[in-house]
This record gives sequence, C-alpha cells and structure tokens, in this order.
Amino acid sequence: MAKRKKKKFRFLKALLAIVVFLGVIYGGYYVWFKLYAQKDSVLGGNWSKTDAFDINAVKGLGVNSRTEDDLVYDFKILQVADTHFILGNSLSDKKTYDLIGKAIDEGKPDLVVFTGDTFASPFTGYAARALCDFMEEKQQYWAYVFGNHDSEYGISKTRIAEIMLQDKYPHCLFQTGPDGSVYGKSNYFIKLTKGGDIVYALSFFDSNMYTMNLNPDTNEEEKYAYIRADQADYYEWGMKGIAEAAGKGSINNAAFFHIPLPEYLDLYKNPGADFTGERNELSEGIWTEGVSSARPFYKDFDDACDVFAVLKANNCKAIFVGHDHVNNFRGTYDGIYLAYGRGAGFSAYPYIKGSSGLGKLVSKISADPVYSYDYERAVNFIYLNTTTGGISVKEFTL
Ligand SMILES: [Fe+2]
Repeated sequence: MAKRKKKKFRFLKALLAIVVFLGVIYGGYYVWFKLYAQKDSVLGGNWSKTDAFDINAVKGLGVNSRTEDDLVYDFKILQVADTHFILGNSLSDKKTYDLIGKAIDEGKPDLVVFTGDTFASPFTGYAARALCDFMEEKQQYWAYVFGNHDSEYGISKTRIAEIMLQDKYPHCLFQTGPDGSVYGKSNYFIKLTKGGDIVYALSFFDSNMYTMNLNPDTNEEEKYAYIRADQADYYEWGMKGIAEAAGKGSINNAAFFHIPLPEYLDLYKNPGADFTGERNELSEGIWTEGVSSARPFYKDFDDACDVFAVLKANNCKAIFVGHDHVNNFRGTYDGIYLAYGRGAGFSAYPYIKGSSGLGKLVSKISADPVYSYDYERAVNFIYLNTTTGGISVKEFTL
C-alpha cells in the first residue's frame, strides 16, 4: 500500500515538473515573442499632406561623373534583391555575402539598395545584425526596404528597424518614414547632390505583405499586397518638396520597392516594348513565382490608388523591384524604365536542381514555361546619369 502511494506521488511529482517545465518554456516564448520580437510601435511619427517639407531631414549622397565600359554616369547603385538570409553565417548565407562583397569590392557602388526579402527565417534579428555589421565594415552606404518575408517568421518590422537605426551603423540610410500615419515602415527618400545642388531623388516604398482582397474579376483572393494610396501621397509630397528645395519644377527620381507593379506584367505582355533580359519564370507554383504583382483594383478599394500614374506624374524615371527571383527582364513601359533585380540569395529556394516534382508549375502567360530552379544568383549594377537622365543596368554574378 505504502509502495503504491509512493509510486503515485512520484508520478504526480513528474507530472508537475513537466507542467512547470512547459510553463517556463511557453512563458519564455511568450515574453520573447509577444513582448520583444513582435513589438510593433511607431518609430517615425506622423505625417499629413499639409506638413511643411524639411529638406534637411532628407539624407543625401553626392554624385561624381565617371565612365566605365563606355558608360558615362555619375551615380552607381548596387541593387541586391531577395537574399533570404537565414542566419548571416550559414554556408548558403556566406555564399550570398561572397557575391555582395565581390560586387562591392569590384564595382565600388555609391549606394547599395536591398529591395526586400532580405531576411526569411526565425533568426532574422541575428541575420539583420550580421548584415548591418557587414555593411559597416565595408564602409558602404546602403538602403533597405521591407519585402513580404522579412518580418514574417517571428520578428516584427519595428524590431528590424530598431536594429538598423542604431547609431553604430552610420552607413545605413534606412528610415522608417512616418509610420504613425503612412502605411508600412520603409517609406523614405534620399537626395543626390552635385556641388550644393540637388540633382536627383531616390524614393523607397514598403510594398507591404499580403492581402485577402477579392479580385473583382475572378472573385478569388489576391495574395500579395500593394502600395497604399497614403504611401503614394507621401511620395508625391516628398518629390514636390525636394524639387522645390532644388529650385526646380520637378525632380527626376527612381523608385525602389519589393513587389512589382502590375505594369511589369503589361510590359512583358507588350511585344512592342523596348525590352531586354530573360523571360523565365513565367509560372506559378510552390518554388517559383510568375510576375507576382499585386493587383490593387484601386477603383474598388479606398486605400489603393494608381501608383504607376502617381509615379509617372512625379517624374519617376525608373522602378527597381525584386520578389520574382528568376525574372530579370527590364524595359520601358509608358515612359518609366521597369527593372527586376534577380534573386541574390543562395539561401532562397531552391537548392534542388530540376525539382519539378516540388510544385506544379502552370504557365500564366507563356505556352512554354521555363523551369529555372537552378537559377543563377545575381545582383544589378544600376548606372545613373543624373545629367541626361540615362539609366543602364548590368547584372553581376559570382
Ligand atoms: Fe517576395
């Protein structure tokens, strides 16, 4: 009888230990995840259309005329898309850093722009610190916008922003923008100057993450989100403010964000378009994305607008996006140069060559889709001539 009682007591003790253990794990996870990693707060304040524009609040970089392979330009940007960093020091991440490091060392860009999906892992905080340290070590100015994956696996945009905004990273030009009243967390501008004059502007947008809006044509849910009307308003206010500070009626500018506009698909479909690049990845499925643009149906949703029209009306000359890893086509559509940055991340899908069994690929706009699982990782060098407005792009690979 006493033996049985002892056994029961031992069992209850073990049960209690398990409950306490699970409670500590869950409590720790809750504190870390909900109160730390998922913290969402306003970092950049509020904005309204009637606010006065302060040109001194806009970070600036100088332009400097030079030539390279017959290209005459004065500002060189390295666009890095879709690195999908996991840790920052995994084997595949290291290969991505080899690519970026080589591009910086050989190309000597004036600015590096990470156009989203830079991080895609539960260890994004760690990977973000690694990226900031790497860029600071290189003494390289860089900008960053959010993609749909960066804040998806545990850490919030607020936390990523807080890492990048630390004083110890003076080469990081990322800003949240007025995230208290403008949607998203990477809506900001950079001015380019020659002597004391402002000659060009760069604008950055958070193209947001996902939407469950119903496509009014098909009645199906749309997957990817879109740049909101308030973000377009903020951009317009910024471009007008920079133009005024430059003493001009308008300012030439280029835009950087993650998810392509629907006009990329229109460019692709337009056989008469001025067009270079590869037309791969015309598919949908698990491992590849087609031209995965958001269709905002701006006539149907109050928070949406015709972003392309707003950009065009404000002298945007070029748009650079990522998101669709294998696409690298580019061309001029309705007066704006639309370009893709190909996926640069060796940690991004896929590792498996010719793995067509992993996802059913259905061609959307080509009768003959190309299965490009083993696509070559690449970054873009963008050559801006701020005097002529000329833009050239060259891919760079390991
Ligand atoms: Fe993406």
